Amino acid sequence: MDISAEGKISRRSVLANGAMIAAGLAVAPLAARAQSKASQADTTRAITGRDSLKAHAAHHGLLAGTAVNARALATQPEYARVLAEQYDIVVAENAMKWGPLRPTPDTFFFTDADALMAFAAEHKMKVRGHNLCWHSQLPTWFNSTATKENAQHLLVNHITTVAGRYRGKIEAWDVVNEAVQVSDGRPDGLRNGPWMKLLGPEYIDIAFRTARQADPHALLTYNDYGVENDSDDAGKKRAAVLALMRGMKARKTPLDALGIQSHIHAGGSFGSGIRDFMASARDLGLKIFLTEMDVNSSNLTDNDIAHVDQAVAATYRDYLTTTLAEPAVAAMLTWGFTDRYTWLGGGRRGQQPSHPQRPLPFDANYQPTDAFFAIRDAFDHRQTRQA
Ligand code: G3I
Repeated sequence: MDISAEGKISRRSVLANGAMIAAGLAVAPLAARAQSKASQADTTRAITGRDSLKAHAAHHGLLAGTAVNARALATQPEYARVLAEQYDIVVAENAMKWGPLRPTPDTFFFTDADALMAFAAEHKMKVRGHNLCWHSQLPTWFNSTATKENAQHLLVNHITTVAGRYRGKIEAWDVVNEAVQVSDGRPDGLRNGPWMKLLGPEYIDIAFRTARQADPHALLTYNDYGVENDSDDAGKKRAAVLALMRGMKARKTPLDALGIQSHIHAGGSFGSGIRDFMASARDLGLKIFLTEMDVNSSNLTDNDIAHVDQAVAATYRDYLTTTLAEPAVAAMLTWGFTDRYTWLGGGRRGQQPSHPQRPLPFDANYQPTDAFFAIRDAFDHRQTRQA
């Protein structure tokens, strides 16, 4: 991956390097596999400085990052310390979304977003912007205010204001988030969300063109989930996302990168589906970011935390071995870095939790988990496929 003199990922250079079967799986085989692989892995248990995630990532042309919880950053010194120690790219978990940014139709609340930008500048971190257009987390006033007549102005004004405020300081913007929902039944596989209802599919091009004008320096990214595993549904979603991106390229809509959220479940392995999907994105000239990775263990039935940790670590290792082999992958971010603030609450959805979620590289007490060492090991063993 070419990084220009000022340390920015140049848009033209595309260097860099794939699935999960979310099924209830016995943990033992996974744990055994993780244990045996761990013994072959880098056994350095030190984690700071040259042993940090960002240091190991940088050796292999990668940025290592995480989503940031605004309140934790503002109130927890240990949170801020580990964040600065381990990562060189960050993204606001919520602070740059419509809901938190827009308390009223006429006002913006930038305090939390500005605090993240200031922290990143102080620690020479890059920033991903998330996100300029989404069907979720819209402000409470949106449904009663937005109409077919004013929706384009609302969207253009929001993007111009937000992306314009941070012009030149954002490495990549998630311009449109999660626009594909095949189960909504549209022939194009797009989600029938608020923006679709108000503006039709053109909202996507409007968003990307406006973002390019507001910040010509940022890598404009389409970000989505559910494309990682080898299920039929994921295959359908990959096809629809590719069709969307190919259409954008054909219309010369500015698009520089694909974000693969990578919210995956423990267990299983990753096949040709994600591999071919990423190669197709590369063929469109796109960079690829793994934007929101975590490993949900709610499908595991084991109550032994050590076994759960090993299964989660094995999943990180398997998924990253496949996806980091794609040369177009430029960054890997987890969705948070400590279990203390994971968005994945409790245990199995809707049932009495069988065990606490352990989805991230640090536990609730900021101690590195097996996942930390699996991630770092995957960075170290990155072998990119021929581009
Ligand atoms: O800040 C308010 C607080 O004032 C209020 O008291 C509380 C109770 O209503 O809500 C708080 O806001 C919550 C916010 O997280 C901050 O904690 C919202 O209700 C809650 O909906 C919001 O959830 C976020 C979710 O996106 C929204 O859909 C999660 O934190 C966040 O991790 C999650 O992130 C998404 C990505 O943006 C896109 N990809 C999927 C990923 C996981 O869903």
